[in-house]
Amino acid sequence: MTEELGPEAGPLLPDWDPPEIDRTKAHPARIYDYLLGGKDNFDVDREAAEVALGLMPELRGMARANRAFLGRAVRHLAEAGITQFLDIGTGIPGPGNTGEVARAVQPEARVVYVDYDPMVSAHSRALLAGADSALTAVVQADVREPKTILDNGNVHTVLDFDKPIAVLMVALLHFVSDAEDAHGIVAQFVDALAPGSALVVSHASEGHELGKSVAARSGWKNATSQLVLRDRGEIERFFEGTELLDPGVVIIPAWRPDDELTDEGRSLDYGQAAVGFKR
Ligand SMILES: C[S@@+](CC[C@H](N)C(=O)[O-])C[C@H]1O[C@@H](n2cnc3c(N)ncnc32)[C@H](O)[C@@H]1O
Repeated sequence: MTEELGPEAGPLLPDWDPPEIDRTKAHPARIYDYLLGGKDNFDVDREAAEVALGLMPELRGMARANRAFLGRAVRHLAEAGITQFLDIGTGIPGPGNTGEVARAVQPEARVVYVDYDPMVSAHSRALLAGADSALTAVVQADVREPKTILDNGNVHTVLDFDKPIAVLMVALLHFVSDAEDAHGIVAQFVDALAPGSALVVSHASEGHELGKSVAARSGWKNATSQLVLRDRGEIERFFEGTELLDPGVVIIPAWRPDDELTDEGRSLDYGQAAVGFKR
């Protein structure tokens, strides 16, 4: 299955468009796919990404650093004994997706992929066709309606909420505004989890060149979701009810890097990340 997803693989989208797929608006998942070098994107996504890249050339490095953080966090949690993962805002699940990383450590890991974008669900279903349905589910739902996820029958078929679950909100919460109560939404998920569960967050923020992230947002102006930047304190507040793992909230490449941080890594400071455990 992973071979299908290698760099030589074609798009996972079917050669027909499911009626929900809108080619006229850029989608964050497809912009992100384009930034990662994927093939599941349309002209409108590439144009939005190029506008943003023109204003912020670091964006491609940021996308890669973010995907790498997801991998390090999932690997760490699987090594710590977590076997259940609720990945919200999955994006197009290419190589290094949550299930792949988790099962390299915990072969029986249970993973639910949630995204509100029907196009992402189409990809996820294609990717996961043939996967063991006891261990994997794809759910189309909006994190801004937590109950549609927390009370979802397909989620509960795969995940046991009486046991620890890692909830991943990686590069997701900057699409949820304060008016939509981003912090309250995360709190509902933390409340629903058993002790020993974990929360994984990465989030866009201002970096060393002030105003650059704000400028890059203009690439998203025709997209289905807008980008909200938050500072370190606001990102830390998502972890209320959990205990942050060292090193706390840091720039994304600095969260437990596999190798010593390079100058390039240090310059990719337009997003921050952390992992917390519910005790
Ligand atoms: C930048 S991608 C991140 C993908 C993946 N989490 C990663 O970090 O590699 C953001 C994803 O969040 C999804 N998304 C945005 N708003 C959402 C919402 N309100 N509910 C569920 N998914 C959402 C988008 O469709 C997109 O697939």
